[in-house]
Amino acid sequence: MPFVTTKEMFRKAQEGVYAIGAFNAENMEMAQAIVAAAEAENAPVIIQTTPGTLKYAGPECFAGLVSRLARDAKVPVALHLDHGNSFDLAAKCKREGYTSLMIDGSLLPFGGNVTLTKQVVDMAGDLPVEAELGTVGGKEDTHEAQAQYTDPDEAAEFVRLTGISSFAVAIGTAHGVYKGEPKLDLNRLSGVRARVDIPLVLHGTSGVPVEQVKECIRRGICKVNYATDLRITFTNAVKQAIADQPGAYDPKKFLAPARAAVTERVRELIRLCGSDGKA
Ligand code: 13P
Repeated sequence: MPFVTTKEMFRKAQEGVYAIGAFNAENMEMAQAIVAAAEAENAPVIIQTTPGTLKYAGPECFAGLVSRLARDAKVPVALHLDHGNSFDLAAKCKREGYTSLMIDGSLLPFGGNVTLTKQVVDMAGDLPVEAELGTVGGKEDTHEAQAQYTDPDEAAEFVRLTGISSFAVAIGTAHGVYKGEPKLDLNRLSGVRARVDIPLVLHGTSGVPVEQVKECIRRGICKVNYATDLRITFTNAVKQAIADQPGAYDPKKFLAPARAAVTERVRELIRLCGSDGKA
């Protein structure tokens, strides 16, 4: 299967009322695990990296790795810049071969967010661009954000002025680990759906109860982001492997079980999104 943009996968997801799982990878093992899980579930999939991840290993590393994995994969694979924090980083990811970009101007005032987002849409050309209005709370890559819910009328205006391809809603989810059970404003989501017809994206999904995620998908979410869940899954498996093999010193002894654990978890999350069998 080719290395693809998200355009066709979103079109089918919107039509079929399911979501594409978008999974954050931090390293080669996690990227391999995500592709292996998608193949096992016959699902289209999005691998994404935050600016923090790209400081650790640049866009050239992830674009090289994921494009090569995608070439041999039996399912469509897209590579997305998650929470792009500058025009320059978005442009660099495009140059290196990313197939989808997010520009996150959600901390700017409305007008500034529109201006930045529009610049990235114009630069992106054929690549789809995701943007956010309102703020998903919690620990977002390198900073703590205060949640501010998306206003449906402003959302419609934002989409019209920027020409983005997908829209991230702020309806009460937060990045990182939830302190209590998240309370999502589902009526707000339906309000956005009624005014905005492009694919809607749910951020901060780790820790959101399964039934709430499914209800969001029924109400128009067609990309569901998971990062923290996979970081925890990977790290717990590494810790367990080290505890089980105190004398081992070959990194593969710890990384292979972690890769297998992430594969299993991503398979579950793909089934939760309903994208299994949709490749
Ligand atoms: P979580 O870390 O809560 O899964 O959020 C991921 C996300 O939204 C990435 O943009």
